[in-house]
Amino acid sequence: MSTPRDDGYVRIFDTTLRDGEQSPGASLTSEEKLLLAHQIAALGVDVLEAGFPAASPDDRAAVARIAREVGSQSDAPIIAGLARACRGDIERAGEAVTPARRGRIHTFLATSDLHLEHKLGISRAEAIDRTAAMVAYARQHADDVEFSPEDAGRSDPEFLCQVLAAAIEAGATTLNIPDTVGYTLPDEYGDLIARLMRRTVGARQVIWSVHCHDDLGLATANSLAGVRAGARQIEVTVNGIGERAGNASLEEVVMAIATRLGPHGLRTGIDHKRLCHTSRAVADFTGMPVPPNKAVVGCNAFAHEAGIHQDGMLKDQRTYEIMRPETVGAARTRLVLGKHSGRHAFRVRIEALGIKLDEHHVADAFTRFKALAERKKVITDADLMALVHENVSAPPEQWRLVGLRVACARSALSTANVRLRGPGGEREGAGAGHGSIEAVFEAIGKITGITTSLNDFRLESVTGGADALGAVSVQVSTPEAPTRTFHGYGIDTDIVVAGALAYLAAINRILDSLPAATPENRRQAIPASPAKTTHAPFEGPCPIEANDEPFPADYTAGIP
Ligand code: KIV
Ligand code: ZN
Repeated sequence: MSTPRDDGYVRIFDTTLRDGEQSPGASLTSEEKLLLAHQIAALGVDVLEAGFPAASPDDRAAVARIAREVGSQSDAPIIAGLARACRGDIERAGEAVTPARRGRIHTFLATSDLHLEHKLGISRAEAIDRTAAMVAYARQHADDVEFSPEDAGRSDPEFLCQVLAAAIEAGATTLNIPDTVGYTLPDEYGDLIARLMRRTVGARQVIWSVHCHDDLGLATANSLAGVRAGARQIEVTVNGIGERAGNASLEEVVMAIATRLGPHGLRTGIDHKRLCHTSRAVADFTGMPVPPNKAVVGCNAFAHEAGIHQDGMLKDQRTYEIMRPETVGAARTRLVLGKHSGRHAFRVRIEALGIKLDEHHVADAFTRFKALAERKKVITDADLMALVHENVSAPPEQWRLVGLRVACARSALSTANVRLRGPGGEREGAGAGHGSIEAVFEAIGKITGITTSLNDFRLESVTGGADALGAVSVQVSTPEAPTRTFHGYGIDTDIVVAGALAYLAAINRILDSLPAATPENRRQAIPASPAKTTHAPFEGPCPIEANDEPFPADYTAGIP
């Protein structure tokens, strides 16, 4: 069953910047959101949900900026803003998406008895009335209105038909059916979509959409079941990030449609070659790494280890591959650029990789590329991607690493001397710890005045070889903002420097998030008592105290 205008085209509604950003610890700066919005738009998504404007002034500004800078281009996707079914939210979402050529208000109201009774405290009849009133109100602010009955997966289907009919009558153009808590099984969810499309009055006037969460690992399967039942929009996030276990993953549903459902007449408008790059960008910016075995975009997705598999692959790739790695833009390790490459070659290569940067970011990335090329003979595509994503959003008022020297010790404490530049000038600090990284983090904590606990530290090698880039992701929490976690990402040929850059990126995020003092003020203030990262107390004399020799002249060498 499907809508009359059905030609098998499945719209991809990307909610990486809204539902995806709700992943614990995945918060993005507005600069990062804008860059990702450009990337996601270039993938060819039909709708880009840019945020939840009523959630905070920052979110509202970010949605408006994306609507203006991404949504105003000729081939731009529809820019959507989320709103609860209440006037204030709808007005804010409407204002935020107005600059886009095509804007959408996405409003939602819970419909399961559990949510109605325990969360909203309203009756079923009130839910129908509110749906009708708020969808009609949203239509006064936008021609394109999507309605979602939250927790539809656990709602009474007959009641859902009544709510959805009211939404259609009030002017909704898309009806989205969220399995909010990832509860349904694929056949159940497919049956639900078919039933709603069959029994809701006015069903043929709207596009039906699926929105599945992955609590039981079924988000992709459920989304595909919904599409096979007639839905023609799928809501997804890149890498499947999102609340709790996440959302259906864009790359999985898109490649499943391309690989298996094409013969059934279904297709999307996604440029598959950009999938891997976009996945990498989202992983780097959110600090949520992609597991190696992740379908489509994991680094092992096209690796063949077993001898029997390798033998088969050499005879005919189709023996063990259902899609070709190049189809999804899986990075090949290629020699592309070196220290003699100019800015033009650099720009051409990053554009070929599908990376969109404005002039300012190209200039910044090119400077760092040159510094890297001095230390690493060949720069591969993977190096370039890592380089471009690292620190791409650092505005000038943030703390930057200027110098670093460590003395690593096995049977004593390691020590570090760090020099940072902030708006108030350069500052130096020293730290000690059970390893170089801990010593560096302590020195940075003393300079910036931020106390943290380290929740996660990951190091990966971007490519092979002794001069490979090391990429470090950290996640920290801080008493300054106890309900949140902050991540940072850094790359360098030296893993201790990469760790320092990642930690500094996380500290800058903490400072940017503090409402009480402006970041500038915080960055100039040196705390009366030095902040400490949490680690076991020092034992014996602290070697830092004895180590007050000046930094050597070349101590900043190599730090971009
Ligand atoms: O999962 C959910 O119910 C949602 C809605 C707001 C669409 O994200
Ligand atoms: Zn959701």
